[in-house]
Amino acid sequence: MARILTGIQSTGTPHLGNVLGAIRPAIAMSDTPGNDAFLFIADLHSLTTMRDREVLRANSHAVAAAWVACGLDTDRCTFYRQSDVPEVAELTWYLGCSTPYPMLANAHSFKDKQERLHEVNAGLFYYPVLMAADILLYDANVVPIGKDQKQHLEIARDIASAFNRSYGEVLVLPEARISEEVMMVPGTDGQKMSKSYGNTIIPFLPESTLKKQVMSIVTDSAALDAPKDPESDNVFKIFRLVAPTSAVETMRTNYLAGGYGYGHAKKELLEVLVNGFRAERDTFQRLLTDPAELDRLLRAGADKARAVAHATLRRVRDRLGFVAH
Ligand code: ADP
Ligand code: TRP
Repeated sequence: MARILTGIQSTGTPHLGNVLGAIRPAIAMSDTPGNDAFLFIADLHSLTTMRDREVLRANSHAVAAAWVACGLDTDRCTFYRQSDVPEVAELTWYLGCSTPYPMLANAHSFKDKQERLHEVNAGLFYYPVLMAADILLYDANVVPIGKDQKQHLEIARDIASAFNRSYGEVLVLPEARISEEVMMVPGTDGQKMSKSYGNTIIPFLPESTLKKQVMSIVTDSAALDAPKDPESDNVFKIFRLVAPTSAVETMRTNYLAGGYGYGHAKKELLEVLVNGFRAERDTFQRLLTDPAELDRLLRAGADKARAVAHATLRRVRDRLGFVAH
């Protein structure tokens, strides 16, 4: 049994790129026999930039609702909110005391901010240590991450090795899993879909909002009659990722033949999104009206996580010379 663990940023309602590029693959991974998946919402990390308590809370609810709506089986895996397991902060301190200062000062995520150090808080500097604690607290074997997190994983491994050198083999060394063929979902403007570009399509939102997002997809000004190149059009590029193969082939033929406008294509895309994500949208909306239910679900996950966290901390405290309880 391999323990696979990954953290999910809690920055708002997930968009189509997040669903296809992250949520569905992670759910498939957690459903794979032999995998013991730990998935958590990294809300302590979001405190490095977030100051609004309502937004903080709403964001983690939106993320949790989206994952459950997409079919995450919370009985089968351990799905929790990082802040519901405060033991991670305890391990963060212990690990920090085995972390060489230059290792953190040289982290890309911190170095990028070097010009604006007066705006940077110590939490941002310490971010990789908290991330190491997230992983090492649960004896994770494999950590699926994007390329941008590669250095953080190396730091986690270095911290674990340094700790083990001082105290004996206490911590499990995690392996990164970086998928090479990452899917890229384009946004309404043709760039990578990202909440920072304001080009998202969010399939969990009500139909009227979804319609506005689909209608805002940027196309060229080819006339209705003109044949069109499907490969260079944003509507087609998104349609291809969500529609059944036969519908994609029909749309391709329509583009090439001419007499078929971008308005038609947008209407078809909207229909596929509305119908294809109907169950997810309904569940998402229902869960958001019942945050107490979401909190219960996350707390049940945290209880499972805490059992593992306690066992690790007992081991660690004993090796450090503290009373292990
Ligand atoms: P955003 O760019 O909106 O801030 P994040 O960086 O929070 O998204 O990404 C969260 C996860 O979703 C990551 O695993 C990332 O690879 C995936 N993801 C984000 N945008 C896309 C996209 N356009 N296509 C495919 N996957 C994406
Ligand atoms: N830092 C990660 C990101 O920005 C999220 C994260 C926090 C994480 N803790 C983690 C990922 C532990 C993997 C393991 O995407």
